[in-house]
Amino acid sequence: MERITTGIRKLDSLLGGGFPVNASVLLSGGPGTGKTIFGLNFLLEGARKGEKCCYVSLNETKDNIIRAAKGIHSLSDIDKYLGKNLAVEYIPLGQSNVTLHRFAETLNDYPSLDRIVIDNVNKLLMSADTQKSYRVYFSEILKQLRNMKSSMIICETAGDELDSGNMESFECDGVVQLSFLELEEKPSRSITVHKMRFTSFEPKVPHEMTISDKKIDIGEAKVI
Ligand SMILES: Nc1ncnc2c1ncn2[C@@H]1O[C@H](COP(=O)(O)OP(=O)(O)O)[C@@H](O)[C@H]1O
Ligand SMILES: [Mg+2]
Repeated sequence: MERITTGIRKLDSLLGGGFPVNASVLLSGGPGTGKTIFGLNFLLEGARKGEKCCYVSLNETKDNIIRAAKGIHSLSDIDKYLGKNLAVEYIPLGQSNVTLHRFAETLNDYPSLDRIVIDNVNKLLMSADTQKSYRVYFSEILKQLRNMKSSMIICETAGDELDSGNMESFECDGVVQLSFLELEEKPSRSITVHKMRFTSFEPKVPHEMTISDKKIDIGEAKVI
């Protein structure tokens, strides 16, 4: 099966080459766990290969997203691709009549994207009238995302939750969780794959993840 490289070699090898093609992966984690950086790293991996990529930010401005990339050396070549095969779109849901319905429709305008990151579902949830309508739109959005080569949906979570409590982790094809582990004196970042359809992997084994001003990377499995 065709695999989509994630931008982190160690993660690709844990997943037998990367994410399955046409999969929509939920990237969950608390504030500051590295979701935005992970998403940017994933898109730049595609952009460098000439793929068409888009970061859809629902809560942070375009400038902030670009600034986050430029702060990290391995992502600081973002300017080379912006306006060419990489777009960063800020869609202020809930403001100036940008509704969830309009957002779902907007995705139809991007049929030929290779990689998309949507940051984040919590904003989609906030702008839905009811929980039921959110779930209906989420399914609708997933259907469209699966037409793309690869997609990632970011979810802000509290504690050990994997999704917002609205079944996103059941609906998505993969679930990757970022968190902080406090096993030693110094807390460390970790990444855990909970689910990946069509893929054989060791589930629920946390690996150390590091973010520095140089790069984002994954190390050895953490023994709990
Ligand atoms: N340029 C940088 N140098 C070092 N660490 C950074 C840099 N940029 C981000 N980080 C680390 O990554 C964290 C935030 O990552 P981010 O992807 O924005 O988190 P999230 O989207 O999950 O809230 C910061 O709190 C910081 O620890
Ligand atoms: Mg973020």
